[in-house]
Amino acid sequence: MAAGRRHNSRHGAGATDTDATDASATVLRLKLAVPLILSAAEIGTAARLLRNGRLVAFPTETVYGLGANALDADAVARIYVSKRRPPTSPLIVHVASIEMARALVGKTAAGARAWPESAERLTQKFWPGPLTLVLTKSDAIPRSVTAGLPTVGLRMPSHPVALALIRAAGVPLAAPSANRFTELSPTTAEHVRRSLGSDVDYVLDGGPCEVGIESTVLSLVGVRPVLLRPGGISRSELELVLGPIDSAEAPSNDAHPSPGMQARHYSPRTPLFLVSDGEAPEGRGVYLQYTRPLHRAGDKLIQMPLSAGDYATRLYSALHEADDANADWIAVDLPPALPEWEAVHDRLRRAAFRD
Ligand code: TXA
Ligand code: MG
Repeated sequence: MAAGRRHNSRHGAGATDTDATDASATVLRLKLAVPLILSAAEIGTAARLLRNGRLVAFPTETVYGLGANALDADAVARIYVSKRRPPTSPLIVHVASIEMARALVGKTAAGARAWPESAERLTQKFWPGPLTLVLTKSDAIPRSVTAGLPTVGLRMPSHPVALALIRAAGVPLAAPSANRFTELSPTTAEHVRRSLGSDVDYVLDGGPCEVGIESTVLSLVGVRPVLLRPGGISRSELELVLGPIDSAEAPSNDAHPSPGMQARHYSPRTPLFLVSDGEAPEGRGVYLQYTRPLHRAGDKLIQMPLSAGDYATRLYSALHEADDANADWIAVDLPPALPEWEAVHDRLRRAAFRD
């Protein structure tokens, strides 16, 4: 795959190893890149808070999410308040199984579930994983979740903590990335605490996120599939299953406006520049090097990984680190303009955008 390697092998549903034979079964042993022991009591506490309408930040394989019970309009309203997110930006609903997703889509005129064959094929292949499908929503989902749209974004994350949490809560979780609106997405629990502070009731720490950039968002409500946001599953992987897919950016008759696709998004506070000649702006800065050395000495340098997947995993943590240096600028040495870098380029473009 492209930006974000396939992680199912490591983060698949089977990776949660609860010892059913052990009566004390109080600990979830998670086979993650970083070994981690999270107590089942923590998941239980978080699940109870969610059922009581509170907000819980939790790890997914892409970025940390700020979760609320997706069927509770009051809980969902709190997400918009704590993120300072405009109500016009719809939320992704996270599920723990394909069946759970199917129950959240609406009915067609003929009375059948609006779960097209393409959704079946894609979920069989890519779930659990970093793919969000936009489908016709069921009435069970409050309109505030979808910003009034008749459609809903559904995703089954592969992180074992996310899956365990959704199962324990027993409800689907509406969850945007757990950062304030337009800020950098969080890939560690520490990023979440720093961005949201006391505006989140509980933070589950599942270690650093493995994919590192957000899920791919694909709409299946039109005649042809439309890529609304490149992400952890690449366009070419999707096209192998579906054939050609349209882009939201491309002028297309059935591409509906995609809220949440603001040009400025995922931004550090420090002005960010995209460079391809090793030239730095005036002042003191941080340089995210791909292959070209900076022409000048004295600035902080972060060497980025060379493969698209590893680069994506590192991207937000590097940008958080660069931002923390309180420098005059961050300059990013552009990685190659190749298809597998589409999602990374998308995030870099948005991070560099200035009105
Ligand atoms: O990887 C991810 O997707 C993370 C983790 C937490 O799952 N979540 C995330 O959520 O990135 P957020 O809210 O930061 O971004 C959601 C994206 C936005 O671009 C939004 O416009 C799009 O999904 N989206 C959600 N529902 C939609 C809908 N019904 N129609 C069109 N776009 C939708
Ligand atoms: Mg976000």
